[in-house]
Amino acid sequence: MDGTTETFQITFAQAELYEATFVPAIFGEWAPHLVDAAGVSAGARVLDVACGTGVVARAAADRVGPAGAVTGVDLSKAMLAVARRTRPDLAWRQADAANLPFPDGSFDVVLCQSALMFFPDPVKALGEMGRVTTARGTVAVQVYSSLDAQSGYRPFIQAAARHAGPDAVNLLGTYWIHGDLDALRRLLDRAGLHVADVRTRTGTVRFDSVDELVGIEIGATPLADRINDEVYGRILADSREALARFRTASGGLAVPIEGHIVTAHRK
Ligand SMILES: C[S@@+](CC[C@H](N)C(=O)[O-])C[C@H]1O[C@@H](n2cnc3c(N)ncnc32)[C@H](O)[C@@H]1O
Repeated sequence: MDGTTETFQITFAQAELYEATFVPAIFGEWAPHLVDAAGVSAGARVLDVACGTGVVARAAADRVGPAGAVTGVDLSKAMLAVARRTRPDLAWRQADAANLPFPDGSFDVVLCQSALMFFPDPVKALGEMGRVTTARGTVAVQVYSSLDAQSGYRPFIQAAARHAGPDAVNLLGTYWIHGDLDALRRLLDRAGLHVADVRTRTGTVRFDSVDELVGIEIGATPLADRINDEVYGRILADSREALARFRTASGGLAVPIEGHIVTAHRK
């Protein structure tokens, strides 16, 4: 494998960047909460769907111990390569969440963190998660709350919409699309799952500066190609002002981000 080979959407170098930057900045802190909410215990067989570089699988592996087993699946070979590098002892498989390559009832717990928003058919993927879970097992899904609930990201996205037009809300809005709990419950219901518990918590996104947050969030979306330097500069200036209150004493940035952890069982 070389460091620049294109696999699915991202390169191995980008997957390493995800593990080194995005996991500590955004996603990592949710993993122990997801594993806790799902009740992952010693000896359990656990599947991490859309595992990325494996932060949830690693948290689960710490709980299941030697008597358990943890498998991570993702569409991206690059993400899986980094996952395998960090924990060669766990099982990693390339697969689509909508077509999981496991027999019915293979796992006691199925986890899915910060990924439902990327699935073209979330009901199919949730149905697959239920299918591969045992009858008494648990499916636990983590999503971010709606934009209205995001006191940090809302003013940034409003600034983008002010200067780049209302489309910016959708272009920067992937995170929040499953944030409405009633709508999420309906998706789970259609997938044959009933919700047992919902935990809403506020996490923290950590960047060095507002400039870094704006650069990363815009750079990761098609908005980057639709705006010129002047528009970018205006979004940045407004965001610096709106997010100034999230600066930390040590000069970094700690922005709140609210999310839901939903646990469900097969009907
Ligand atoms: C934001 S990352 C989250 C990764 C990991 N769960 C975490 O918390 O760090 C989203 C992941 O979903 C994966 N993904 C997107 N669509 C997928 C699909 N249809 N099936 C499996 N994985 C998918 C991507 O490759 C990526 O690794």
